[in-house]
Amino acid sequence: VKTFNNGSDPIALWHEAYPALWRATVGAPEELTPFGAAAGSPNTAALADLPEAEFPFAADEVRSRRVHGKLHLAFPLGPDEEIYGMGLTYRNLNQLHQVKNLRMGHYNGQEDGRTHAPMAFYISSAGYGVLLNTARRVQVYVGTTHPREAPPPLQDRLQPSWRPTQPGRTVDLYLDTPGVEILILGGPAMLDVVRRYNLLCGGGCLPPKWGLGFWHRAHIAASAQECVDLVDHYREQEIPLSVLGLEPGWHSGCYPCTHDWRPSLFPEPRRFIADLAARQVRVNLWQNLFIHPDCALGEALAPYCCSHTGSWGGLIPDVTLPQAREVLQEHFKREHVDLGVSGYKHDEVDDEHWLFPLFATFPSGADAEELHSLLGLYVQRLSFELFRAVNRRTYGLVRGSNLGAAYLPYALYNDCYEHREYITGLCSASLGGLLWCPEARTSNSAEEWLRRIQAVCFAPLAMLNAWASDQMPWSFPEVAAAVREVIVLRHRLIPYLYSAFADYAFQGVPPIRAMLLEPGFSAQPVVGGAARRDLHGTDNPYAHPESRDVSDQFMFGASILVAPFFAGQAERRVLLPPGRWFDFYTGAEVVGPWHTVRSDLGPVPLFVKDGGIVPLLAEGEDLQAFIHWRSLEVRHYGEAEGVFCLYDDDGETFAYEQGDWSRVELSAQRDGSGRWRGVVTRLTSGERETLPLCDWRFM
Ligand code: GAL
Repeated sequence: VKTFNNGSDPIALWHEAYPALWRATVGAPEELTPFGAAAGSPNTAALADLPEAEFPFAADEVRSRRVHGKLHLAFPLGPDEEIYGMGLTYRNLNQLHQVKNLRMGHYNGQEDGRTHAPMAFYISSAGYGVLLNTARRVQVYVGTTHPREAPPPLQDRLQPSWRPTQPGRTVDLYLDTPGVEILILGGPAMLDVVRRYNLLCGGGCLPPKWGLGFWHRAHIAASAQECVDLVDHYREQEIPLSVLGLEPGWHSGCYPCTHDWRPSLFPEPRRFIADLAARQVRVNLWQNLFIHPDCALGEALAPYCCSHTGSWGGLIPDVTLPQAREVLQEHFKREHVDLGVSGYKHDEVDDEHWLFPLFATFPSGADAEELHSLLGLYVQRLSFELFRAVNRRTYGLVRGSNLGAAYLPYALYNDCYEHREYITGLCSASLGGLLWCPEARTSNSAEEWLRRIQAVCFAPLAMLNAWASDQMPWSFPEVAAAVREVIVLRHRLIPYLYSAFADYAFQGVPPIRAMLLEPGFSAQPVVGGAARRDLHGTDNPYAHPESRDVSDQFMFGASILVAPFFAGQAERRVLLPPGRWFDFYTGAEVVGPWHTVRSDLGPVPLFVKDGGIVPLLAEGEDLQAFIHWRSLEVRHYGEAEGVFCLYDDDGETFAYEQGDWSRVELSAQRDGSGRWRGVVTRLTSGERETLPLCDWRFM
């Protein structure tokens, strides 16, 4: 236990709540918090298994005070540190020298803190994290401030040594609250900080297996028959499909929404869902929280709603009230879940332009600023619990989230549609227990179509959202074969990806990760961190802080590096982490650290670590009904021996929590004469023990 407190608002004793995870409070924390709203249960056993780490600061270095009635917290920042995280970002991973106003809203093209998951949680390159469990808006100055008693050295603009930014020595957070809980998360590596955070949330989510297949969202006005025809078209085109999403038109009234079926489009919803189930396709429903006042749900919710309607005249339920949640859950259960619906896309829980103003009031007495940042968490939890109660796992989408959400099985998305930003989103999400879906909607060219679908096939949720465009995977004949190929590859990779999600759930390792979390990818930053050097053509790219801001490539599962192309790119460079790397398709070695790939509308560039093992569904396996895999193609890459721990369970219920799961070790070994052989070893005993047939390929 460390004790230090400073300033006018004392920080309570630091208490080691879990190994290398310290807690303290300042002032009187408020009742509504993100962790409280998410309500996950920390995985204490896995937390205890993480490497040891020291409290990152010296005594008396964390300061708190009250100024202008608000709380100001200052945390030390070393001269070589880079700062990452703070929720979902789309332009930079490195937040050093940024001033951010973290608040819930639809991202508007500016990296100023308004985002779909604004989280007061940053990770330092020095290997620790700082988190404020608050639902308040937080102003953060990341190494930009200089109090008068410690000004930066004075400079002259005409001198070559002049620098535009002068690094401050603190990260300052400023918020309007009577008090807050502070968490310090130890490393020692940045990945350990992320794992500690995820395990604190309850572990990452484990989606049902079907959730990892390909998704298509139908046109907003599609009818049941059109949806069935669409699914049949997929089959004709030999493209696997796991989930069909319905957009607003399924509601009998939408914007505001009734959450009842529209009889003219879906006369027999139960039968429609069964028809799709017979084709191995699940149904996901779009919904938002703007409730139509003149419908059964609106009437039942009326006593529990906000003082103001949202845009379109919808009632907004006070989801902090158990009564409001119960009404919603009962309706969802009766009208959707019991009919076989598999999950939801929770839209528009982000922006105050449509939701409610800060001066709105709620029957629970909840503060609008806080409720605004927690709406997405409440609605995720509400629907997750609904499925949990009937022992079915769900997987879905949500447009607003916050701290504590790692265990909730929802991917974020938005309307911006900037492809590069979408890929940076994939990377930044991995720093905060979030999942991001860089959905494909439409495109201006065949090339762009292919590039977008290729990238989304390596996301946590692989989806074509054709709600407005009505585009199909085969809409551009020039690339239809390549589009089909990558969707097929996505389905074949499900055993590999499912194991990556198991590592997320039980060990906190994000399945899709920013490069900066890879061992060795980040090395010593330049002294004085603010310097910006040329990344290209230098001897050691790892020595630059920018090398950890590479966000146009990412890790997919244990050993695959994905470097997607963007439309218009004739070639691109890939920064390979230290070690040997091999082309996924040919097994040929590629030479790093910088490797250039050329584009000719070919497959998405994928590289595998030395010793990497990738289990895929065997060629003949049914890619539509893949829940029980029997035969696998197991690829091994490179020269090093390797091991892969293949996780399996029933793929759709919570029985795994009662021990109904299995692990099999796939290991590639060399015998005395140098010949490769694959060994399959059962690691667990129990019923779920049919070993998969493995066809090994030494690439
Ligand atoms: C948007 C959402 C889109 C689509 C649309 C339907 O808010 O981001 O994906 O669902 O609503 O109205």
